[in-house]
Amino acid sequence: MAYFLGIETSCDETAAAVFTDQYEVLSSVVASQARLHAPFTGVVPEIAARAHLRQLLPAIDAAIQQAGCSASQLSAVAVHHTPGLIGSLLVGVAAAKMLAAVLEIPLLAVNHIYSHIFACQLAAGRSIFPCVGLVVSGGHTVLLRCEQMTNMKVLGGTRDDAAGEAFDKVAAMLGLGFPGGPAIEQEAARGNPQAFDFPRAFADDGRLEFSFSGLKTAVLYACYGQNSKRAEPPPPGQRRADLAASFQAAVVDVLVLKAKQAMRQTGLKRLAVGGGVAANSAFRQALQEMCRRERAELVIPPPALCTDNAAMAAWSVELWKQKQWAPLDLDAQPTWLTQ
Ligand code: KG4
Ligand code: ZN
Repeated sequence: MAYFLGIETSCDETAAAVFTDQYEVLSSVVASQARLHAPFTGVVPEIAARAHLRQLLPAIDAAIQQAGCSASQLSAVAVHHTPGLIGSLLVGVAAAKMLAAVLEIPLLAVNHIYSHIFACQLAAGRSIFPCVGLVVSGGHTVLLRCEQMTNMKVLGGTRDDAAGEAFDKVAAMLGLGFPGGPAIEQEAARGNPQAFDFPRAFADDGRLEFSFSGLKTAVLYACYGQNSKRAEPPPPGQRRADLAASFQAAVVDVLVLKAKQAMRQTGLKRLAVGGGVAANSAFRQALQEMCRRERAELVIPPPALCTDNAAMAAWSVELWKQKQWAPLDLDAQPTWLTQ
């Protein structure tokens, strides 16, 4: 059996995992940095990179130990090298290159967005291709036509903010703290999703694109008024819960609508959804209802596999089998080059 090490440091989770050539995940270690970024209500790139430096080698050690193997048994090391925060990515890429050089094993360069789709296959335990893929994370909101793990075409994405970013910014506006997604979800649970009629961008046409910046502004105006300077966040109470619930409903509506349009336009009847926002239970429920109505299959991982982790890099076994090994001068790529 061949063992592989996966490394994830694209944003603010430091993660390592060990998996086999049969795509079996033997260990998955995720060291969160949420506590470090919470005072700033968002990820601070410099803090993230420095925390990766401290946390990565212990995470790798723990992953190897929990898998019950040793570093000398590894057949390759896989690293998410794109997309993400440059300082964060560089820590993972440098560590992976060092291990590949010292252990004299292949280095595998892994696309983080593809990995979010593969998390669906990991959860399903069988092939999910072909399908429409929807990745909704802190940095990306993208629809994909997924033919195979190594063959995906972008159908459309966001023109401005990612959905997760909107969750984080709106949570900060409402004084709900960081990370914003889970905080909004919790607050929204006791709010009225129809209390505010927030915009749903591109809902009236078939284009597979998203925009969340207008929604963010609408929530800001609803909180503070159009002319007022930014004041104290709304106090805990029904109004704040209604704002959270109405915002969440607007995001969920457009994500679900565009996923439905993508399935209809491609003729594909399977939808794979990943990324941190896919941990949101209102979103999961709305996806389930839409897929039932469309007679389509929904594949969505459990929440722990939706948010960033290194186990989802296990699809890199395919790169290894195809001998698509990365050079030791591999660079980190902050922007996803889709072509
Ligand atoms: O995929 P991910 O862990 O990291 C990136 O690749 O960006 O996604 C993180 C994003 C954050 O914006 C976070 O607020 C959001 O996912 N998120 C959620 C929930 N859990 C995490 N958004 C809505 N509801 C949640 N329960
Ligand atoms: Zn991610």
